[in-house]
Amino acid sequence: MQDTVKVLVVDDEKVVREGCQRVLCTRGFEVNAAESGEKALAMIQETTPDVILLDLKMPGMSGEEVLEQTRKNFPDIPVIVITGHGTIDTAVECMKKGAYDFITKPFQMDEFLLTVNRAAEKRRLERKARLFEEENVKNLYDLRLEKSRLKTIINCMANGVMVTNRNLEVVLHNPALLRILNITKELNEPASVTGIVCDESILNALKDILSGKIPSMGTIAQEISCHKTVARAISAPVAGPDGDVVGTVTVLEDITAFKELDRMKSDFINMVAHELRSPVVSIRQLNSVMLEGLAGSLNEKQKDFTARGIAKADSLLELINDLLNVARLESGGIPQHRVPTKIGPIMDEVVRLMEPRAKDSGIRLSVHYSDLKEVSADPAQIDEVLNNLITNAINYSPDGGEVTVTASTAGEHIEIKVKDQGVGIPKEEISRVFEKFYRVKNPRTRKVMGTGLGLSIVKGIVEAHHGTISLESEMDKGTTFTILLPTIQEQI
Ligand SMILES: Nc1ncnc2c1ncn2[C@@H]1O[C@H](COP(=O)(O)OP(=O)(O)OP(=O)(O)O)[C@@H](O)[C@H]1O
Ligand SMILES: [Mg+2]
Repeated sequence: MQDTVKVLVVDDEKVVREGCQRVLCTRGFEVNAAESGEKALAMIQETTPDVILLDLKMPGMSGEEVLEQTRKNFPDIPVIVITGHGTIDTAVECMKKGAYDFITKPFQMDEFLLTVNRAAEKRRLERKARLFEEENVKNLYDLRLEKSRLKTIINCMANGVMVTNRNLEVVLHNPALLRILNITKELNEPASVTGIVCDESILNALKDILSGKIPSMGTIAQEISCHKTVARAISAPVAGPDGDVVGTVTVLEDITAFKELDRMKSDFINMVAHELRSPVVSIRQLNSVMLEGLAGSLNEKQKDFTARGIAKADSLLELINDLLNVARLESGGIPQHRVPTKIGPIMDEVVRLMEPRAKDSGIRLSVHYSDLKEVSADPAQIDEVLNNLITNAINYSPDGGEVTVTASTAGEHIEIKVKDQGVGIPKEEISRVFEKFYRVKNPRTRKVMGTGLGLSIVKGIVEAHHGTISLESEMDKGTTFTILLPTIQEQI
C-alpha cells in the first residue's frame, strides 16, 4: 500500500487551489490541482487520487456533475465537497448523492485538516480491508485446493486410511479402507469407529494414542484380521497446532495375499522336509548297520567312508528338523508339553554334551547359576534353545576364548545369558539375525556351516514361552544373548 496520500483539489479559484496545496503539502500529502470539472475527470482517470476536494460552483462542468461521474466510475474515492456560505442545502444534497463530507469556505484550518485526514483514513482502511478480503479469498482457495488434492491422493491410495477425531469418530477415510474392512455401505463422516473396525486391538490402540500413552512421533503397528482379510495397521497420533493430541490416523495395508503365500511356502517346506526325513533316516540306519559290522566286516577305509556318510546324514537330519520346527512355529507353534521345569540341570546337561566340541575349538565352556525358581516350560525346547545359542557361541568364536552360560533370578523372570568372545555381530545386522535363513557375511566365519534357521527357532520357542530374547554385541569382542522367561508365580 502506498504511504503518501494523494489529494486532488478541484476549484476554479486559484487562491483556493494554491492555499490547499500549501497547507496539505507541508503535512506530507501529495497534492494535484484542477481548475475545471473536465480537467478534474481527466486527472482522476490518470492519477486515481485517494481524496478529492471538490468545489461545487465552477464555470463549465459543475461540481455536482463531477461528483456524479466520480461516484459512478470510482465509488471508493471519498469526495469532500467545498461550498460557500448559504449553499448548505446543495452540500446536503451532494451528501445524499454520495459525497463523503463537506467543508465551507472560508476554511477553518482545524476543521479542514480534520476532514481531509478522516477521508484519507477512510480510504486507507477501506484499501486495507479489501486487501485482507482478497488475501482471505486466496487463502480459502488455496485451502480448498490443498484439501481437494489431499482427498484425491488419499482416494487413489491402495492402502486404507482412517482419520479420527478425539471422540473416536472417523472424519476422513478412503475407499480402500472400506474394502479392507469389508464395509459395503457408504460411510457418512463423522461415523463412530466402534461400528467400523471389527478388531478390538485397533480400538485399544487408538484409545492408548488419545490418552497420550504414545509419544507424538510414535506409532503402533499391529496385524489385524477382518473377516477373510489380514491387514497390517499402523496408527499414530495427530497433533494440533499447540501439540495436543487431537485425533488419530491409521493406515491399513492388505497383506492377505502375502500371508497366504507365506503359508503356502511353509506348507511346502513342511511337506518336503517330511518326505526327506524317512529316506535320510534309512540311509543313516543302513550305514550304522554297516559300521557296526552287521553286514560283514569292513576295512578301515570302508569304516571311515561309512562314518562320514553317517555324519553327513546327521547334518542333513539336523537341517530337516530345523525346517520342520520353523514350519511348525509358523503354523501356530510347536506343540508344547510345558511342565514346572528347573533350568539349571538342563543347562548342565547341554553344556556337558557340548564340552568336547568346545574343547576341539579351544574354547573354555562354563556354566553358572544360583538357586533358581521354576519356569513353566517344555524341557526339550529349552534344551533346543540352549543348544542353538551355545553352538553359535562356539561356531562364531574362531579364536577360542570363553563361552559362559549363566542364569539368575530377575524379579519375576529367570534371566539366561550366553556370552562369548567371538567375532560379534555388526549393529545394523542385529535386528536381522532372528530372521529365517539370515546369516551375517563375515570372512572369518565363512567356513561355518549353517542354514540361518537356528535363531529364528530360538526366538519362536522363547516367545511361545511368553519370554523375550535380546542380544548385545561388539565387533571382535563378543556377543551376549539374554533370555527372560517368566517364573511360576506362587498362588496366594
Ligand atoms: N554368537 C554369535 N556371534 C556372532 N554371530 C552370531 C552369533 N550367533 C549368531 N550369529 C550370526 O547370526 C546368524 C544367524 O544365526 P542362526 O543360528 O540363526 O543361523 P546359523 O548358525 O547360520 O545356522 P543354523 O540354522 O545351523 O543355526 C549366523 O549366521 C551368524 O552370522
Ligand atoms: Mg546357529
